[in-house]
Amino acid sequence: MNMSGVNALRLARRPGPGTQLSLTPSYRHKSPFNHRSLSTSRHMAAAQTEEPARERERGLRMQAWQCAGYDGVGGLSLATVRIPPVLRPNDILVRVHAASVNPIDASLISGYGSQVLNMLRLAGQLEQGIVDPNFIEFPVTGGRDFMGEVVSVGHCASGVKVGQHVMGVVSPQRQGSHAEYVVTPASNVCLVPKGVTNEEAASIPYAGLTGWSAVVISGMMRPNAALGKRVLVLGAAGGVGSFLCQLLSAWGAQVTGVCSGDAENLVAGLGAEPLDYRDPGTKQMLVRDGGYDLVVNCSGSDDLEYLEALKSWMGASYVTLSPPLLTNIDNSGIVGGLVKSVRDVVQGNARSVSQGRLYKWAFFMPNPSALKHITDLMAKHRIRGVVDKIFPFSDAPEAYSHVIAGHARGKTIITMQ
Ligand SMILES: NC(=O)c1ccc[n+]([C@@H]2O[C@H](COP(=O)([O-])OP(=O)(O)OC[C@H]3O[C@@H](n4cnc5c(N)ncnc54)[C@H](OP(=O)(O)O)[C@@H]3O)[C@@H](O)[C@H]2O)c1
Repeated sequence: MNMSGVNALRLARRPGPGTQLSLTPSYRHKSPFNHRSLSTSRHMAAAQTEEPARERERGLRMQAWQCAGYDGVGGLSLATVRIPPVLRPNDILVRVHAASVNPIDASLISGYGSQVLNMLRLAGQLEQGIVDPNFIEFPVTGGRDFMGEVVSVGHCASGVKVGQHVMGVVSPQRQGSHAEYVVTPASNVCLVPKGVTNEEAASIPYAGLTGWSAVVISGMMRPNAALGKRVLVLGAAGGVGSFLCQLLSAWGAQVTGVCSGDAENLVAGLGAEPLDYRDPGTKQMLVRDGGYDLVVNCSGSDDLEYLEALKSWMGASYVTLSPPLLTNIDNSGIVGGLVKSVRDVVQGNARSVSQGRLYKWAFFMPNPSALKHITDLMAKHRIRGVVDKIFPFSDAPEAYSHVIAGHARGKTIITMQ
């Protein structure tokens, strides 16, 4: 294959399985796709039709679910847009086969975190030398993780090749994976382990890296030091919780998973001891126990009473995945929001530090070595994707509504097939 940057891709709309991107050597105009690509003879032949320009233009387009304002699910529409170009040398273009819908997708289309994300988007533009005084963030495409096939790679992208099946994440400030194609850094993806379905692969990356951030980065529990440690996972049946029960069990931790009664069998099957939070005795019992090394709250609402479930004076941490930072900034601006957030952390810790316990926040973070660790455990069947419901791409708004309705039992997936 010609590796020269002069070659351009001609990308066909997705008429059905088996249709692929094509490389058209004679097509040498200045293309947004300055990278290596896949070829099929089918499209080589199509390039010689009588309407090459229009063909080409159509071939550079894809469908994406987008919002043009912060109007929630009602504002989502299926748009025909340009396939995102690979502009950064470490980026890759992936043809999406399946993507998950995370609670953050539903929140972002209603404006959650827009101030911080716009700052990050502007920083990304400046990094590319773009200064646009009329910058607006719309249209926005949701979707933070995906499974798909690599169709082209930037000049410096390493570790993946065109044609490989990968699973990975795309940072919240970038256009997301609820589209036929997505661009992300090569370091944000890993090969899909053999035997893992597209939907399972798409269910893991964002929830998995968020869970990793909560346990390893905020909770400071290392994989090789987790043996025998007691961990309480609140929201154990949800996307992050169902992943964490498996990850921590694989590391030899003793996991208690707090969930609704109807999810107890699911949580037990993930290696955790399930407890029903709707039982009024559950919280009292856990607080009386007071023997946990780590509490991770993935339930969607903070509950500082669970701080009491931690051991005292042993460096034990309560980590929440629902920190108020972005909401504070949305409501009070950058400076006011940061000041309020510092106050919130201090308040959380004021209650706990006197008893030798720590209150911490956790955020999703891309993490190549963590993603590799996770996919290795998937290959060994120690972690599986827990799929709640699968929706076709055409029904993406229904998938968002399903997530917004809550009571997740694993992940909601959008599939292209
Ligand atoms: N900080 C970050 O960067 C970041 C990243 C990812 C996710 N998050 C947040 O982390 C949370 C978890 O994410 P997710 O994707 O796992 O959400 P999810 O899939 O919606 O799971 C939440 C789970 O919690 C259960 N639940 C609700 N109330 C509960 C309670 N009081 N005790 C125990 N379980 C309860 C829900 O089921 P039932 O209602 O049926 O019990 C559901 O199974 C969400 O709030 C999400 O927004 C934050």
